[in-house]
Amino acid sequence: MKQRIFSGVQPSGNLHIGNYLGAIKNWVELQDEYESIFCVVDLHAITVPQDPETLRKKTIEIAKIYLAAGIDPEKSSIFIQSHVPEHAELAWILNTIAKIPELEKMTQFKDKLQKESRESASVGLFDYPALMAADILLYNTQTVPVGEDQIQHIELTRTLAKRFNHRFGDTFIIPEPFVRKEGMRIMGLDDPIKKMSKSAKSEYNYISLIDSEETVRRKIKKAVTDSGTEIVYSDDKPALKNLINIYSLLSEKSSKEIEQMYAGKGYADFKNDLAEVIINFLKPFQEKINALSDEKVLEILKQGAEKVRPLAKQKLDEVKKKIGFVL
Ligand code: TYM
Repeated sequence: MKQRIFSGVQPSGNLHIGNYLGAIKNWVELQDEYESIFCVVDLHAITVPQDPETLRKKTIEIAKIYLAAGIDPEKSSIFIQSHVPEHAELAWILNTIAKIPELEKMTQFKDKLQKESRESASVGLFDYPALMAADILLYNTQTVPVGEDQIQHIELTRTLAKRFNHRFGDTFIIPEPFVRKEGMRIMGLDDPIKKMSKSAKSEYNYISLIDSEETVRRKIKKAVTDSGTEIVYSDDKPALKNLINIYSLLSEKSSKEIEQMYAGKGYADFKNDLAEVIINFLKPFQEKINALSDEKVLEILKQGAEKVRPLAKQKLDEVKKKIGFVL
């Protein structure tokens, strides 16, 4: 029997190459080996205010990105989180298992609080990890392929699963995160100390998956670099290290090969070529996105929900029985 993987992306902001290299690229590689479930997590997206029309558009856009990246709906299930109401129901139950200090410790929550005021933050934002735990645990997921920033949430998922199992008897599989060292933390182009982020204030922080050629060239030209002139991959040159990482992951060339290619050359040559590497990756990707109709994608998403819902219902019924609900 194949092991199962589950992962998801929020339909908010602009999906960037960090999301692709840290998560989606790995999903595509893993889908043959694992039974795979990929979700567009709209319930998570509304933990911060969303414009309804944009949310609708983004939800379909994320699914198009999954498909254009190579997720094959014949092999993997893709669906919209709110189409399977068991996610919200299990999240409520896990709320009663999670403890306030555990959620207060989450760095994503603390980061978001720094961006907004505590007064305007929703309870949903605080509770976000319980919903994420529900997503994962509903499907007996063994492996969760994500970027580094989600590891803490998966650790909490493990804690909640163990606590539930201890209290009510074996119910949940304890999942493991799956991260690939090279892409797990793509940094901001304008600040290599912070991760590339969908909610960054400046568009010069990220390369969006739907950026035009001209925008990619402009953003790479403006990307910060370290002092010096040599193209070297080292921890004390974090900006360059990040750009070489992106180059390497999109071209399948190792960082060593890239260093050798640019020996004796300067930042300008390296940056020009990096922009072309990114454009060469984005072009066919965007062509595939544009060729997909909203109707076709929605049909795939509905079929995906139909396929996974029985699994979710079965797990939720088991949970309800264990905690003493009358079925
Ligand atoms: P989200 O939507 O913020 O990000 C989607 C995926 O992209 C990864 N990622 C990155 N990887 C490398 N470098 C970066 N700069 C970078 N930024 C983001 C994230 O780690 C993630 O894998 N909570 C999740 C969504 C979610 C989920 C789940 C994931 C909801 N339920 C269940 C797995 C399982 C999130 O906000 O991802």
